[in-house]
Amino acid sequence: AAPTRLEAERAPAVCDGTIDADHTGHTGTGFCNGRNALGAAVTFTVDAPQAGSAAVTVRFANGTTTARPADVTVNGAAAASASFGPTGTWATWTTATFTVPLRQGGNTVRLSPTTAAGLANIDHLDA
Ligand code: GCU
Repeated sequence: AAPTRLEAERAPAVCDGTIDADHTGHTGTGFCNGRNALGAAVTFTVDAPQAGSAAVTVRFANGTTTARPADVTVNGAAAASASFGPTGTWATWTTATFTVPLRQGGNTVRLSPTTAAGLANIDHLDA
């Protein structure tokens, strides 16, 4: 089946920061610009038809020259590590894919930055 797109700027996603649209190329109406702080996360609710491993793809931009690493947790448990490396400009978006364990029904997938720089700008999650 085609993946479901969950926009970071739209509920049920939760962005610990601002919803911005000042950099072009995002999908939907904007993106999550998380606070530049440790743990300033974006959270998605991923609905899974059945339990098991699934690929989730996050679209992001990082216009700095330094990675913006983050922990990927699912339902509170560590599931993957994201690097969210530099993409060149804030208007240059790329994707990172993680394989994570999902349970049937709703899952809380959280991207939580592990440095005080916070997250890259997060556009959406496809699951
Ligand atoms: C700039 C940019 C933001 C970005 C921020 C950051 O201010 O315009 O979109 O989120 O840098 O460093 O996180």
